[in-house]
Amino acid sequence: MHLSGPLTARWTSYLGVLSTLSAVYTPAVAVKEHDFKKCDQAGFCKRNRAYADHAIASSSWQSPYTIDPNSGSFSNGQYHATILKTINDKGDTVRLPLTISFLESGTARVTVDEEKRQKGEIVLRHDSTARKERYNEAEKWVVVGGLALDKTARIESEDNTQLTVKYGPTSNFEAIVKLSPFAIDFKRDGASQIKFNDQGLLNVEHWRPKIEKAPEPEKKEGEGSEETKEAEKPREEMKEEPNGEDESTWWDETFGGNTDTKPRGPESIALDITFTGFENVYGIPSHTGPLSLKQTRGGEGNYQEPYRLYNADVFEYILDSPMTLYGSIPFMQAHKKDSSVGVFWLNAAETWVDITKAKASKNPLSIGTSAKTNTHTHWISESGLLDVFVFLGPTPKDLVTKYAELTGTTAMPQEFSLGYHQCRWNYVSDEDVKDVDRKMDKFKLPYDVIWLDIEYTDEKKYFTWDEQKFIDPIGMGKQLESHGRQLVTIIDPHIKNVDNYPVVAELKSKDLAVHDKKGNIFEGWCWPGSSHWIDAFNPAARKWWATLFKYASFKGSMENTWIWNDMNEPSVFNGPETTMPKDNLHDGNWEHRDVHNLNGMTFQNATFHALQSRKPGELRRPFVLTRAFFAGSQRVGAMWTGDNTAEWGHLKESIPMLLSQNIAGFPFSGADVGGFFGNPDKDLLTRWYQAGAFYPFFRGHAHIDARRREPYLAGEPHTTIIGAALRLRYSLLPSWYTAFHQAHVDGTPIIKPMYYTHPSEEGGFAVDDQLFVGNTGLLAKPVTEQSKESVDIWIPDNEIYYDYFTYDIIPTSKGKTVTLDAPLHKIPLLMQGGHIFARRDRPRRSSTLMKWDDYTLVVTVGRDAKLSEGDLYIDDGDSYDYEKDQYINRKFVFDGSTNAITSTDAEGRDTKSIKEGDWLKKMHGVSVDKIIIVGAPASLANKKVTVESDGKMLTAAVEYAPAGSGRAAFAVIKKVGVSIASDWKVNLA
Ligand code: NOJ
Repeated sequence: MHLSGPLTARWTSYLGVLSTLSAVYTPAVAVKEHDFKKCDQAGFCKRNRAYADHAIASSSWQSPYTIDPNSGSFSNGQYHATILKTINDKGDTVRLPLTISFLESGTARVTVDEEKRQKGEIVLRHDSTARKERYNEAEKWVVVGGLALDKTARIESEDNTQLTVKYGPTSNFEAIVKLSPFAIDFKRDGASQIKFNDQGLLNVEHWRPKIEKAPEPEKKEGEGSEETKEAEKPREEMKEEPNGEDESTWWDETFGGNTDTKPRGPESIALDITFTGFENVYGIPSHTGPLSLKQTRGGEGNYQEPYRLYNADVFEYILDSPMTLYGSIPFMQAHKKDSSVGVFWLNAAETWVDITKAKASKNPLSIGTSAKTNTHTHWISESGLLDVFVFLGPTPKDLVTKYAELTGTTAMPQEFSLGYHQCRWNYVSDEDVKDVDRKMDKFKLPYDVIWLDIEYTDEKKYFTWDEQKFIDPIGMGKQLESHGRQLVTIIDPHIKNVDNYPVVAELKSKDLAVHDKKGNIFEGWCWPGSSHWIDAFNPAARKWWATLFKYASFKGSMENTWIWNDMNEPSVFNGPETTMPKDNLHDGNWEHRDVHNLNGMTFQNATFHALQSRKPGELRRPFVLTRAFFAGSQRVGAMWTGDNTAEWGHLKESIPMLLSQNIAGFPFSGADVGGFFGNPDKDLLTRWYQAGAFYPFFRGHAHIDARRREPYLAGEPHTTIIGAALRLRYSLLPSWYTAFHQAHVDGTPIIKPMYYTHPSEEGGFAVDDQLFVGNTGLLAKPVTEQSKESVDIWIPDNEIYYDYFTYDIIPTSKGKTVTLDAPLHKIPLLMQGGHIFARRDRPRRSSTLMKWDDYTLVVTVGRDAKLSEGDLYIDDGDSYDYEKDQYINRKFVFDGSTNAITSTDAEGRDTKSIKEGDWLKKMHGVSVDKIIIVGAPASLANKKVTVESDGKMLTAAVEYAPAGSGRAAFAVIKKVGVSIASDWKVNLA
């Protein structure tokens, strides 16, 4: 490889990786924290924290933001006014248009912009290429619905200090907008929930002309103290800021040898958001650390740094840290007993969030009650609009569904993508791929997808193959296809800058790449060496991108080839913090600074649409995995948590990380099973597979230096145990798919934390190491600690819980922790009573091969033996025909009072009137093979049951096992024989 130019330490380490492919892996050292900024190394974060410190410390602090009393107007669910920011003691102000929109969904939106002209002055910018307005296109990328205004919202009262707007579906929400200083109190049922600017930390760094300072006179010894520097500032400039802030990073800023020119000067926005009476806040992925977010301003057990959202290629990331990772979703939820509220901060620039919790001053009149805790958050973004959505709940589900109305839901996935994915960096040849494929079969290990990392290409030129090693990619694809398997190939956003590579030639000639601050095509370093980056913000670039994926263009790709988009933060090895310079320019002349966190999503989106247009007439659901993401990315694929390490701590933290993804609207998520860096020992690998079976996205992956670790290499008993975990996943695929469908319908998490499923149970609010799968009642607690042979499961309610494998009744009750044996072969998995879930029990090699298999239904009888319910959603798993009624959606009910199990259409449709296509017709031949009733009524002993379906009455045999030594009674109704697509009733009495 030919290399020249500046190399960061990180790039050098990657080079090491590339050149010493056989080198023995040295244990992972934690990410070089100093490669990434701390708050006080990001000028705008430092300024806003200082602003906060000043405001909070000073008893006389008054926020300088006031609504111009003559500016307010309210119509059609929207309040418009102008906020005046006083910028000096002469009383000069800057005008900030404010819009508060009350949406039909009950969500409120607060937007603050900045007028381009102030007091008749043209705002000067020292660089004519920079835009003169704040970035206002994040909405265009992120928001896909839910913006209809609530025309019934009305001003309930108004005087010259404040106005009160009543809104929400039942008019039980209120926004009390205070004029001076500007503040908003959002109430539900008369009680305050969320307050804006309660602490007075609102800060809109207004545009100002750059005043070139006279060159500093040469300093003599003893000169240059802070005081002297202060005294040297131009008078006007000093006067403007009442709080004497640090201006040293207003116009440029250097970190790690990179200078960010800031043509628009300081332009951050910040706001304090208080969650009144809430002690737990969740969300704002992706970070390591607990699901219930920590405080960030020091103190025992707390972080010192704010949570950072600035998508970055964080090499060997550390655990329990607020450091930024690869993707960002600025959606936060606050929860207390029976109440959830949330905010979505729609801003794509670098963002930091401070969190502190404090006892509210006690109301002297409320004798006997203890003071409530408030959670104070301080949101700080480098540029763009202040644009915040406010959700008043009251349930966790309300928050996620309202958020999904705005940003969209999980795309219906390719069904195969819920199966197991076998990846490593790299499978080195087509023969290697075929060999792994054969061995997985030999060891009876089901999998659906094998992956090719960057080495399959001809010297990292995407859309090409290393022809020495991948001699016959189509032959390879066909072998996979022959047993229903798929191939994923990596395609990154950096395009090798080299001669004789048509892709880069077109990128340049069509001018579709990201530009540098001077408007030239940006050049940086990534895997291929010198590279350019496609600007997926540009519609023409996306159109061009789609042409590259046509089967005729991407030779060697075929119908079972899908795509992995990596490095799309974007990762630039020689860039600041391993990413793109902030003063780079995107389509529309927007600075990279404004759009950074959107960048990954635009690229995944371009690939998603490209896959939809590979062949005329072929419209299939794409599968695209991304590393970088933002709010809205859920609409275009899956994500994974990036480069973790083969250590127990990383296995453990994968669970809260994925739960956080799930509650924040992007549930199709996974972590590298086995750990990317390093070599897991066999126990760790095995436990990781057992946990991975409960990740929505289930992929094993390994670094190029890591030893081979395909599950058949583990040896016994590990291979068999891993095989059992894979089979468990595969048998439960119908239930997983149903959970994905629910996520697609309304944004519901696929895996759910305890606070979400049991919002009244305070004991579960900090529990983040166990999860429920969809609505199945399956409660999993993977073992994530070395040598652990038991787990403590927290039980959220008084329902009955059965062991999934033994049907033992778990002796426990609400709020208690129960210890479960978990030797290596055992996955701690409970079944909550009161559910019915579907499985497919016949072992097959891939999910595609299970397409026409019969179903097993598992009924878990509840403590009161009354109702057990469940759903099953099925479609062809591939096309968009489900949009044309080509799906099955069943509701199963076991009713203890009538002693019957029924299957009806979950939506109450008249299914007979549906015009059925081939797939749906064929599904009539797919049956319910058996029904297992755990906690079965004694009436089932030694009996046959009658089965009514399609006007026919049949009988089926029952095998009944009475309760014994801790185990519940259970019954298996065999050869039920009813169609999965039809209505039926099984009479148990
Ligand atoms: C970084 C990704 O996070 C990792 O999964 C991948 O193997 C390497 N890039 C090489 O493409």
